[in-house]
Amino acid sequence: MSTRGLILGIESSCDETAAAVVERGARTLSSVVASQIATHARYGGVVPELASREHLRAIVPVVRAALAEAGVTLSDLDAIAVTSGPGLAGALLVGITYAKALAFAQGLPLIAVNHLEGHIHAVLLQQREMGASAPQLGLPTDSESALALVVSGGHTHLYLARPADGTWSYALVGRTVDDAAGEAYDKVAKLLGLGYPGGPWIDALACFGNPLAVPFAFAQIKTKLHLAGKAPRTKAAKTAPIAALDPHFLFSFSGIKTAVLRHVELHDLRAGVKARSEQVLASPKLPQTKGEALALCPQPLLDLIASFQHAVVGDLLKKTFAAAESLGTTRILVTGGVAANRELRARFTAEAARLRVSVAFPTLALSTDNAAMIAAAAWPRYGAAEFASPALSADPSLALGN
Ligand code: KG4
Ligand code: ZN
Repeated sequence: MSTRGLILGIESSCDETAAAVVERGARTLSSVVASQIATHARYGGVVPELASREHLRAIVPVVRAALAEAGVTLSDLDAIAVTSGPGLAGALLVGITYAKALAFAQGLPLIAVNHLEGHIHAVLLQQREMGASAPQLGLPTDSESALALVVSGGHTHLYLARPADGTWSYALVGRTVDDAAGEAYDKVAKLLGLGYPGGPWIDALACFGNPLAVPFAFAQIKTKLHLAGKAPRTKAAKTAPIAALDPHFLFSFSGIKTAVLRHVELHDLRAGVKARSEQVLASPKLPQTKGEALALCPQPLLDLIASFQHAVVGDLLKKTFAAAESLGTTRILVTGGVAANRELRARFTAEAARLRVSVAFPTLALSTDNAAMIAAAAWPRYGAAEFASPALSADPSLALGN
């Protein structure tokens, strides 16, 4: 067996089939991602059956490419790590079954990784890589706890991540009570006739609009009122104890989608939605200039898009920094697909500088789903010999921490 600390990570929880080889949780030797965006784009969202089929097609070539790019073979590996949840059951099963078969055939330990922990380790991996190449930066180390905002298509969760004896533990601090922020981006983009996924489209268009044109507001969530209402609507909402959380750190993004729809109807912005969605599907190139943005959306729509993004980012920012202050944390990590957003990065960075706290994001490639983060998250578990049983199965609503 090698002693290089090489872990092959496999990720297939949603619409990306990914494999990566990472050395000691700190050096990415390869990271291959096969995106299914083209398959799902025409439906405006992920179709679970199609996702499983695409994963089945991609898994073997993607793993092969990751090994080849890293210049290693299966016999060089020390362990195989795989996302066991949360995610789509059928999609997760493709990665898990393949990882199990490889581990069994090679006699390697199998490590199950929570996808959300993976997103947190995307930033830690990035900091370890940067810290190793530029120690003068004095980046936070693995001995410092951090408040992590995981903001993606399926999650908007705040965790306090604490290192202890080489592994990490997580405490849930806040979360969405309904839609995730990325889900709001995707739904708003869909109702405006923009492409899928919606985040990159709204990100690209927002800078050409007036962010203060439409004053969207987020009401303070009242925990007790929420609990007195109906059962949580989403699967994710069932997986964590909302009642135990400080209501100041709860998010809700389903209302803003309705507010955008109402604004569109009130201001006659419906015209052109169908033509726009056909145009975007035929030529899915993000607009770069004001001229290209205007060719796609009239100015009032650009203003609406900018205002939507301004409000969502403002809400994420306000609650994240309030949670950090209340917990006495000066290290913030922002991760998940929405962490790729330019306005979010700029405003979080400015606020962190103002408050003299640190904020870190993964590289753009590590923000969205990938397997390097899964291999990196598995490294401390490898050290602690926390291996999965051969009976490992998919857990679509797997929660992180307590
Ligand atoms: O982490 P991810 O790849 O998959 C999930 O685990 O959900 O996140 C995907 C989400 C989508 O909702 C997508 O619209 C959003 O991340 N996203 C963005 C941007 N890039 C991706 N949202 C805002 N701005 C972006 N630049
Ligand atoms: Zn994700």
